[in-house]
Amino acid sequence: MFSSPLLLTTALCATGVLSHSPNSYHFDPLRHLAGVAPPFDPIDPPLDPAPPQGCNVTRAAYLVRHAAIFANDFDYETYIEPFTDKLKNTTVDWTKVPVLSFLATWQDPITDAEQEMLTRSGKLQATKLGVDIAQRYQSLRTPKKIWTSTAERTVKSAKSLTHGLADDESDISVVQIQEGEEDGANSLTPYKSCPAYSSSAGSDQSSEFLEVYTKPALGRFNAAAPAFNFTATDIYGMSLICGYETVIRGSSPFCNLELLTPNEWLGFEYANDIQYHYNTGYGNPVSGAIGFPWVNATFNTLMATQNNMSNATTDQDLYISFTHRELPPTVLVALGLFNNSAFSGANNINGTMPLTTINHNRAWKSSNILQFLTNVAFEKMECDSFGFDRGTFYRVLVNDSPQSLYGCSDGPGESCKQEDMMPWLAERASVVGEYGELCEVDYSNSTNTLGIYN
Ligand SMILES: *[C@@H]1O[C@H](CO)[C@@H](O)[C@H](O)[C@H]1NC(C)=O
Ligand SMILES: *[C@@H]1O[C@H](CO)[C@@H](O)[C@H](O)[C@H]1NC(C)=O
Ligand SMILES: *[C@@H]1O[C@H](CO)[C@@H](O)[C@H](O)[C@H]1NC(C)=O
Ligand SMILES: *[C@@H]1O[C@H](CO)[C@@H](O)[C@H](O)[C@H]1NC(C)=O
Ligand SMILES: *[C@@H]1O[C@H](CO)[C@@H](O)[C@H](O)[C@H]1NC(C)=O
Ligand SMILES: *[C@@H]1O[C@H](CO)[C@@H](O)[C@H](O)[C@H]1NC(C)=O
Ligand SMILES: *[C@@H]1O[C@H](CO)[C@@H](O)[C@H](O)[C@H]1NC(C)=O
Ligand SMILES: *[C@@H]1O[C@H](CO)[C@@H](O)[C@H](O)[C@H]1NC(C)=O
Ligand SMILES: *[C@@H]1O[C@H](CO)[C@@H](O)[C@H](O)[C@H]1NC(C)=O
Repeated sequence: MFSSPLLLTTALCATGVLSHSPNSYHFDPLRHLAGVAPPFDPIDPPLDPAPPQGCNVTRAAYLVRHAAIFANDFDYETYIEPFTDKLKNTTVDWTKVPVLSFLATWQDPITDAEQEMLTRSGKLQATKLGVDIAQRYQSLRTPKKIWTSTAERTVKSAKSLTHGLADDESDISVVQIQEGEEDGANSLTPYKSCPAYSSSAGSDQSSEFLEVYTKPALGRFNAAAPAFNFTATDIYGMSLICGYETVIRGSSPFCNLELLTPNEWLGFEYANDIQYHYNTGYGNPVSGAIGFPWVNATFNTLMATQNNMSNATTDQDLYISFTHRELPPTVLVALGLFNNSAFSGANNINGTMPLTTINHNRAWKSSNILQFLTNVAFEKMECDSFGFDRGTFYRVLVNDSPQSLYGCSDGPGESCKQEDMMPWLAERASVVGEYGELCEVDYSNSTNTLGIYN
């Protein structure tokens, strides 16, 4: 069919395909909800997730955060409950307050009994991840075992995944790894046995930015309903409710962009990014040492062959492990990914995350890194690709986006050559430091290695 160039141009402009579109701005708060973001592919960076030309994946490993829960205890007690308690008690007649009128009939979807449990949509999404993995690796064998830390939400996520991954879920046994406080690096929750790690690290820095970004919303809401006395933590709590209510009920009036503006959602996200930067990111000197043992054990397991390793580590093609939100970001630090300072030649760690204004061009975005069901995948590939020697290569994907490992990315699709993997790992070990030393371990039977896969 023939289209005149003029008509074609007009059509493309109308759909916004080939033009600037200041008058059709689109913003989705669900992609900026940090730890309570429903799963999505951030496409960061936008590299093609398909195996590079000439490459077959022969093994893969996944580290997965549990799927969506009703609410995290800390989030609920610190931000949500104080707000919902005030709501129960208030004399404000919400029906007369335009943007907030839904509060007249809104019911809190989070009950005490279900608080830390997986939601129905969480189970569905974990099952879907199992299907996605089965479809992606059709020539790999269904694993005999997958691993999970012992919390109910991680165990249920693992079990839900087996429904999608296996023909019959009883084909896969779900191995539970205790979340002990004296297990050194030998668990899927190594931060819990790291005395130098504090779960509240980053709160002070994040609170500083909370005061900055909530100012306009506070002004607006307190002008509309002065008797309620909205606080900065109420505004933050409303954003958390948007995430939790969405994964519980399927939608939430708190996600409405007339309630909080796109700039305010970006402020919420950045407040979280600051928190995680100092908690499990580059802003905490212990992060990389906590994440490294999983990286090392996983690459070594994928590299192992029948000749030089016990059969236990070589009798599976897929290694899948479930954990909590803290571990994946530390693994990314161990890998040197999403480093705000990368390529800068400097390492001004704090300077990359100012507490008074958003660094919009940062690499470290918690929504992309630790959303519900976030996953870090390693793939081993056999390649015979134009422009490269035939051989074995490794690749890392984060939520389906291939990542380029700094200093080891000259294989097909920016992958890392097998011969370069060991020296690269040794270099990372020296950059991030040793678990026992950085964690200031104070019990006698600690270990610096993760041994659950063999
Ligand atoms: C509820 O209102 C009463 C009376 O104004 C007040 O004493 C009480 O502290 C309020 N409770 C909460 C949780 O705000
Ligand atoms: C150290 O001992 C404690 C208490 O017996 C145990 O729970 C823990 O698993 C041990 N740690 C390691 C790394 O074996
Ligand atoms: C509003 O809330 C803040 C924080 O809880 C409190 O310090 C302040 O006294 C309250 N103001 C009014 C007018 O109730
Ligand atoms: C990495 O794992 C290998 C194989 O398990 C082990 O020999 C080595 O000591 C580990 N390296 C570090 C730095 O922990
Ligand atoms: C195991 O063998 C592979 C292939 O021969 C080799 O590349 C790798 O370094 C060996 N791994 C260990 C831990 O010896
Ligand atoms: C691994 O399995 C093969 C074949 O089943 C067997 O011959 C070999 O002894 C096993 N090796 C080890 C280290 O267990
Ligand atoms: C982050 O990047 C800077 C600059 O390249 C580098 O000096 C630093 O070692 C990196 N941090 C980690 C933990 O890899
Ligand atoms: C970065 O911030 C942390 C936490 O506030 C502080 O302990 C550390 O000294 C700062 N580092 C530098 C280089 O300023
Ligand atoms: C990839 O798999 C295909 C189909 O089994 C095979 O023909 C090809 O040789 C394999 N390529 C490599 C590099 O192993």
